[in-house]
Amino acid sequence: MRGTLYLVNRAHPLAGEPEAEALSPVDGSRPQIRLHQRARVMLDQLLTAVDGRAAIVPVSGYRPRSEQQAIWDGSLAEHGQAFTETYVARPGCSEHQTGLAIDLGERRPDIDFLCPAFPDDGPCGALRRRAADYGFVLRYPRGKEAVTGIGHEPWHFRYVGWPHAKLMEKHHLVLEEYLAWLHDFPLGSEPLRYQGLGRRFEISYVPAEQAAGLELPARVPCQQSDTNEGGVVLTVWRDAG
Ligand code: DAL
Ligand code: ZN
Repeated sequence: MRGTLYLVNRAHPLAGEPEAEALSPVDGSRPQIRLHQRARVMLDQLLTAVDGRAAIVPVSGYRPRSEQQAIWDGSLAEHGQAFTETYVARPGCSEHQTGLAIDLGERRPDIDFLCPAFPDDGPCGALRRRAADYGFVLRYPRGKEAVTGIGHEPWHFRYVGWPHAKLMEKHHLVLEEYLAWLHDFPLGSEPLRYQGLGRRFEISYVPAEQAAGLELPARVPCQQSDTNEGGVVLTVWRDAG
């Protein structure tokens, strides 16, 4: 698992696990809630930007498959099949297993672990509106249930990084749709372009058969992200110039 665009859903189970050293606690008071290093740093900046630390708490971050299995089993027993299939990913198919997903909840005495309250106003609403600036997307929005296979989850944020979060937000795309769109920009043809952060971003899709021998552009920062559907997304960060 390399990069931030790894797709995990019912049709794309997770292959492998993040390396333990890539995970770190989201804050000192909750050592058990861990995230991938880059996502943790950006969540920290997002919470600071919206002055959200008093009102918003991390509820669940990285989950090994065994924990997802326990959550699935517990939810089935307590809430039944329909609820569980709507709000809990099958073991092996949860993006919490990547370390790139975080559930956040409004601070209150009775935080629901599976469905924490995350209202659209106040500090929670402010965080949602700024999330893409810090590389996070609302992974399971209302209206996309048929695409994601999961019910509306206002509390579940996924780190996809820049400029992907900005593009997904601008075009109202969930990760399944965004990756499908990127197939229209195969390496060697005109890339998808986005300007921001003083940079010109160029995004290309590298089909699986080309991914092994991929030659990266010289002297330009770039990222490769596995997609879990065979291909790789190449993101080049050029100076705005
Ligand atoms: N609640 C989300 C879908 C998960 O279990 O990963
Ligand atoms: Zn979640």
